[in-house]
Amino acid sequence: MEPSVLKPLRYSTLGGQLTDPAIVHLMANALSNPDLLSLAAGFTDNLALPLDLVKEVVAEVAARPGGSETLQYGMNSGRPGLRREVVRLLREFPGEESLQCDENSVLITNGSQQALYMATQVLCDPGDIVLVEKPTYFVYLEVLKGLGVRPVSLPSLPGGRIDFEGLRKLIDRLGDSDELKRLKAVYLVSYHANPSTRCIPEEDKKNLGNLLRTLDFALPVIEDAAYRDLYFGESHPARSIIGLPEFAGLPGIYSGTFTKPFSTGMKVGYTCCPNLDLLGKMLNLKGQQDFGTANFTQAIIETVLADGRYAQYLRKIRPHYARKLHILSDALEEAGLRQLGWTWDVPDGGFLLWVRAPDEFDTRFDAPFYHACIADGVLYVPGDLCFAEGSPYNFVRLSAGVLSNERLVEAAKRFASAARHSETI
Ligand SMILES: Cc1ncc(COP(=O)(O)O)c(C=O)c1O
Repeated sequence: MEPSVLKPLRYSTLGGQLTDPAIVHLMANALSNPDLLSLAAGFTDNLALPLDLVKEVVAEVAARPGGSETLQYGMNSGRPGLRREVVRLLREFPGEESLQCDENSVLITNGSQQALYMATQVLCDPGDIVLVEKPTYFVYLEVLKGLGVRPVSLPSLPGGRIDFEGLRKLIDRLGDSDELKRLKAVYLVSYHANPSTRCIPEEDKKNLGNLLRTLDFALPVIEDAAYRDLYFGESHPARSIIGLPEFAGLPGIYSGTFTKPFSTGMKVGYTCCPNLDLLGKMLNLKGQQDFGTANFTQAIIETVLADGRYAQYLRKIRPHYARKLHILSDALEEAGLRQLGWTWDVPDGGFLLWVRAPDEFDTRFDAPFYHACIADGVLYVPGDLCFAEGSPYNFVRLSAGVLSNERLVEAAKRFASAARHSETI
C-alpha cells in the first residue's frame, strides 16, 4: 500500500486557501540570518526587555502564599486582578477618567492579534467587508484574507485624515449596490499607527461616531491601540472610541497589548468592549480556542501594573525607542536618502518609520530594490502589503525596534546604498 502521506489530504476551504503570511516569511528571514540586518520585524529591543524585572517578579509571584495558583488554568476571560488593572490603566489616559467599563468588559487575550482575529471572526462571514485605513496593519489584512473578508480602504485626505464626504459617498454606493449589508466593521489603528505612525485626531473619531449613528444598523469599530503606551512626550490627547460620547451605544472594541510596551514574548493582550453581547461572543470563541490566556504570564503583568513597576519601566523605554528612531532617521539622512527624493517624519511614539520613496520607485518583494537590499544584507517591509488595494508600491516600513544602535546605522547605510543603486520602474 502507498504510504498514507501520498494520499491527497482533504482540507477545509479555509485550510486549502491558507498560504504563508508575509509576517512569517519576514520573521523567519530575520531570525535565521544574523547577517541580515532587519528593519522589517516589528520586534522590540532584546537589550531593553525587562529581563531583570521579570526575574524579580517571577520569584515574588512564586513565593506568595498560594503562588502555585498561577501555574494552574485561569479564567477564560483572564485574571480578574489583571482585568481591573487594565481598566485602571485605560482610565489614566487624559479624558478617560470616567471610562464606562469595568473588569467585566475586559478580555485578556494571547496578544492583541488573537483579539483582532476573534473580533473579525465573530462579526464577518466570507465575502463581507471591513473598512480599513490607507495604509493599515498588514497582518490584519492577512487575517481578513484568511477569513475571506474584503478589506476596503476608508477614503482619506492628503495627510491621512478620514475623508468623511468620501466615506458618506462610499456608504451610499454600497447601499446602491446592495452591498451595505456586507459591511461588518471598521478597523482603525489609532495611536502611532503601524505602519503610518499617525495618531487619529479625536475630531475624526467623533465625526466617525456621528456618521455611524446615522446608519440604520450598528457597525462595530475595532480600535487597535497597540502602540498607545509607547509615546515619547505626552500621551496623545485623543480619547479612545469607547471613551467618546459620540460612540455611546455603538459597538466598540478597544484592543491593547502588553507585548510592545512590556514583554513581547509573554504575548498578553487585552480587549475592552463595553458591549457585553459582543464581548460574550468573543469569549465563546476564546473558550473554544484556548479557554484562557497563560495564567502565569498574566500574573506577572498584573503584579507590575498594580505596584507601579510597569509605569516605571515605561518611563525608561520611551526615551530608549525615541533615541533609536532618531538614530535610524539621522543615519538615513546622512546616507543621503532624502536627496534621493525619499521622505518621512520622525513620529512621537512607537518604533516605526513610514518612508515614502519617489512615486515611480518600486519597493515590492519582486522589485530590483528588494533584491538589492537582500544582497546588501538589509530587510524592510514593502509598503504595498499595507494597502487594501495592494498599491501604491513606493512605500516602506522600517522598524528601529530590534537592532542595536550601531547596527541601525549600518542598516541605514545599506538601505540608502541599495536605493541609490536600484533601477526605477
Ligand atoms: C498595529 C498592531 N496591532 C496588533 C499587533 C499584534 O500584537 P500582539 O499580538 O503582539 O499584541 C501588532 C503587532 O505588531 C501591531 O503592530
